[in-house]
Amino acid sequence: ITVDWDAVTAEKGGFEHFMLKEIYEQPKAYRDTMLGRMNPEGTKVILPELKLTNEQIKNIKNIQIVACGTAYNAGLVGRNLIESLVRIPVENDIASEYRYRSPIVSPETLVIVVSQSGETADTLAALREGHANGAHVLAITNVVGSSIAREADDVLVTLAGPEIAVASTKAYTSQIIAFGLFALYLADVRGTQSEAEVAHILAAMQSLPEQVEAILEKKDAIKAYAEQIAKHDHLFYLGRGVDYAVAQEGSLKLKEISYIHSEAYAAGELKHGTLALIEEGVPVIALATQESVLEKTVSNIKEVKARGADVLAITHEEHVTDLLKSVDQAFAIPKTLPMLTAALSVVVLQLLAYYASLALGHDVDKPRNLAKSVTVE
Ligand code: G6P
Repeated sequence: ITVDWDAVTAEKGGFEHFMLKEIYEQPKAYRDTMLGRMNPEGTKVILPELKLTNEQIKNIKNIQIVACGTAYNAGLVGRNLIESLVRIPVENDIASEYRYRSPIVSPETLVIVVSQSGETADTLAALREGHANGAHVLAITNVVGSSIAREADDVLVTLAGPEIAVASTKAYTSQIIAFGLFALYLADVRGTQSEAEVAHILAAMQSLPEQVEAILEKKDAIKAYAEQIAKHDHLFYLGRGVDYAVAQEGSLKLKEISYIHSEAYAAGELKHGTLALIEEGVPVIALATQESVLEKTVSNIKEVKARGADVLAITHEEHVTDLLKSVDQAFAIPKTLPMLTAALSVVVLQLLAYYASLALGHDVDKPRNLAKSVTVE
């Protein structure tokens, strides 16, 4: 008997691509990133690795989250978590913009740089810009000994494990978990959330791994939809709030590996231009998980439907029946808190991008023109 294998095949652990393997590793990445970071009662986040003092935390006036690519998109979710739980103003910046625009930073600014590799040149430069202006810099990274980890004042490590596929998946979702933990930590020190509320959110976070597993079990339905969209040249994602942040990551994922042109839009902004691009048969993926704006999102869905779009809604089970009156297909994700839906809905969009790329015969793990880590400007 001869066995056909090589080191790379072995590393893929039975998966056809690293990207799929890494998508499947997300429940573990979530668990590992949360492990040991809360008290046994589950009422408090503990981050003993942080040097940031309670005094400093109480004095924070504003937060700037700076990153590139997928890490930037994770920061958009991070902003939502911090603003809603701690009520500190947060800005998101693209590192290559931030470093050259003379950002307004003070010693009471907390700069958070997010980087899977910890080596992205623009993100490292943004960190140095923060330091030059006297800010405390916290790095959220997946690589402990990286340049960014070494230069930052504080490091919050994501425990996603090595990520090989160029298109980032488990790093993004682990960054969301890290943001959730950090936001709850800040909320505790600043007294913006009650212990009961923190416990409630931590319990919801601990259910996320199983909920991701439930989504992965429905991969065949996502694959079938991906094969449909692979026939199109243009595609739109829309959503409001956290759903808009996830839409941006879903769109980036699709562009990176399937080379299908796509755009993510804040649903309410469509009418200011993008609606002109919607014509018969254009696929639109509508993220509709945020109850507080569900009605608004549904009315935006109706606007694109009226122009002939073919709409897939991603929502919670309880809204499927209602939404099916306005959309062509719906995919239900398990129920979680509105602020945590990104950790689930993005998994659907990752699989969608993966299967679309596969259907088109592209090199999923090594897309054209892209590098895993960009260490030059
Ligand atoms: C490259 C990768 C992206 C990644 C970005 C930032 O463009 O292809 O997947 O999101 O760099 O990388 P970082 O390591 O800083 O998170």
